[in-house]
Amino acid sequence: MRKRTIENMTVRGRRVLVRVDFNVPIADGAIGDDTRIRAALPTIRTILANGGKAILMSHLGRPKGKPDPAFTLRPVADRLKELLGAPVHFADHATGPTDPASRQAIDVLNEGEVLVLENTRFHPGETKNDPDLAGELAAFAELYVNDAFGTCHRAHASTEGVAHRVKEAGMGLLLDKEIEYLSKLLDSPEPPYVAVLGGAKVSDKIGVIQNLLDQVDALLIGGAMSYTFLKALGHETGASRVEADRLDDAKALYEQAGGKIRLPVDHITASAFDNEAPRRIVSGAIPKGEMGLDIGPETIGEYARAIGEARTIVWNGPMGVFEMSNFAAGTFAVAKALAGATAHGALTVVGGGDSVAAVSQAGYENLVSHVSTGGGAMLEFLEGKILPGIAALSDR
Ligand code: 3PG
Repeated sequence: MRKRTIENMTVRGRRVLVRVDFNVPIADGAIGDDTRIRAALPTIRTILANGGKAILMSHLGRPKGKPDPAFTLRPVADRLKELLGAPVHFADHATGPTDPASRQAIDVLNEGEVLVLENTRFHPGETKNDPDLAGELAAFAELYVNDAFGTCHRAHASTEGVAHRVKEAGMGLLLDKEIEYLSKLLDSPEPPYVAVLGGAKVSDKIGVIQNLLDQVDALLIGGAMSYTFLKALGHETGASRVEADRLDDAKALYEQAGGKIRLPVDHITASAFDNEAPRRIVSGAIPKGEMGLDIGPETIGEYARAIGEARTIVWNGPMGVFEMSNFAAGTFAVAKALAGATAHGALTVVGGGDSVAAVSQAGYENLVSHVSTGGGAMLEFLEGKILPGIAALSDR
């Protein structure tokens, strides 16, 4: 059944409560990456263009269920105003999204205007999916729209509970697009299908590896999680980061994969976790005192070849410590290989904050088929799990 989207809902003159995922990196009030804000623009513009009033709510970071100025959404509202070129209000909602100021600001909101509510996690009921909070939020509007794909794996009051308490609920254009692309990966990926997984921990990716193994032709592993695999298989990993309590899991996954899991054959190593530390290219065993911080040139060549030959590619997680320029080559090479594969007609999907940042830093953002705004949500979707925020839209 096709779910209801903002495009087929009547918004004229109505208050539309939109759950967006504005959980963006902020340091000292400055937004590091506004991808998630820009990704919400099509839905917001659709509401405004059709004469609706948009009330936006989001979490930011992980405040402890009470107001914390370090996690205010004010800088996000300011950035949204610059990007949107339409009136964006942010009242002083000192106690959180249900502050009396919210109600007042909603009452005076005009058609074609936007109101950003304060951080939903300033309220202790948000992460507990408190029915009272969900009811209060639902009372703010006539329609509810979920466009926060990145948070759909959380059954929170603003993502799940509220959807059951409004008369009409549907999805935003971003959520619709995310489901469309990620479903292609689950339902009918054209072979050869290659998954590239990186990042620090095997533990974060066990579920998705298990589910992907049935579907993919090859699973290319990079990042620190590759050292856990290599160690589990009896290789010397020196001072590289290893999850000691996951060695058995890694070994079992590798055996279950029947040759589909590919691990780095060479590495860029250093004796310290420092961009200025002298680098070495190491093939095979990593010597004592050295730590692997990126995949090596031979691995880059192999992985780029596998990506270039694939028709479907999904990538989540960096190949090395790419935020340090001397250990970023592997991650950028994967980004480049994906852009090349896209140009040859492959379906390419990238997700996870670091991989998405690498793709956009390299200028390939528009040269891949789909950049997902989900990190954990994308992994859970690819694990085959039902995401509560999506399920709530159809369960009502
Ligand atoms: C994310 O950044 O993955 C989402 O916004 C969810 O954030 P959370 O992990 O703090 O729930």
